[in-house]
Amino acid sequence: MKIITTIPEMQAVGRSLRSRGQRIGFVPTMGFLHEGHLSLMHTARQENDAVTVSIFVNPTQFGPGEDLDRYPRDAAGDQRKCESAAVDYLFVPSAGEMYPEQPSVFVDVEGISGVFEGAIRPGHFRGVATVVAKLFHVVMPHAAYFGQKDFQQCAVIRQMVKGLNLDVAVRVLSTVREQDGLAMSSRNSYLALEERRKAAVLYRAFMAGRELFGAGETDPGRLKDSMRAIIQKEPGVSIDYIEIADPESLKPLGQAFPTAVFLGAVRIGRTRLIDNMVL
Ligand code: PAF
Repeated sequence: MKIITTIPEMQAVGRSLRSRGQRIGFVPTMGFLHEGHLSLMHTARQENDAVTVSIFVNPTQFGPGEDLDRYPRDAAGDQRKCESAAVDYLFVPSAGEMYPEQPSVFVDVEGISGVFEGAIRPGHFRGVATVVAKLFHVVMPHAAYFGQKDFQQCAVIRQMVKGLNLDVAVRVLSTVREQDGLAMSSRNSYLALEERRKAAVLYRAFMAGRELFGAGETDPGRLKDSMRAIIQKEPGVSIDYIEIADPESLKPLGQAFPTAVFLGAVRIGRTRLIDNMVL
């Protein structure tokens, strides 16, 4: 595995692979890798000739007072995991490499960037869309792999790719979960033992909502009430939002349907957890 830290070197690799007709699969990450990331790498490995992973904790997607400074990092462990997943190129740029000047050029996906996570974290998706667009230009992938756990992020990226006519296939793979259903996330490492025990409540609420839908309930209000009631029974867990939305536009629904999605965010102590489930 070759470790690359500069944009010109990474672009030279992309150009050379493409000139030899090699298909490039790309897994963008912020590091502190877990099984969810590894599943993206394994699929990228199967579907492409070369696999590039990036690790970059992107400052433009963090708001003031968010966890940029304490975001978990493990450079050596991440490198070992990428090697074990047969990654060919690991791109680890510095913040100065990605943003040599105060950034003045942004990609803004209007509409869906302003709801749910975007309403609570203003500017977050502008930062995500901007860095992913930059990384696509640097890595030059044919396909890029994202986890469904960040459902809204995937919708934003799909819309950006469509809107900018980028020639990259966006592959969204299923959320990898812990045994109790908690969606894997680097931020789970923030949870204290007692908080970790409560953290699967969002998953349990979605499962109950899905069961109710399966039994014939299509009224979003009643489905949401049943999920909220489960979460409210868990002391110390507060709800940021629970919604049932159209999977593409993310607009709330008048009636639930099978491809609609439950989206939710809760806070446990200082940690925010997000998750989703297609009905
Ligand atoms: O999902 C993430 O880890 C990040 O938002 C991404 C896509 C790597 C952009 O920084």
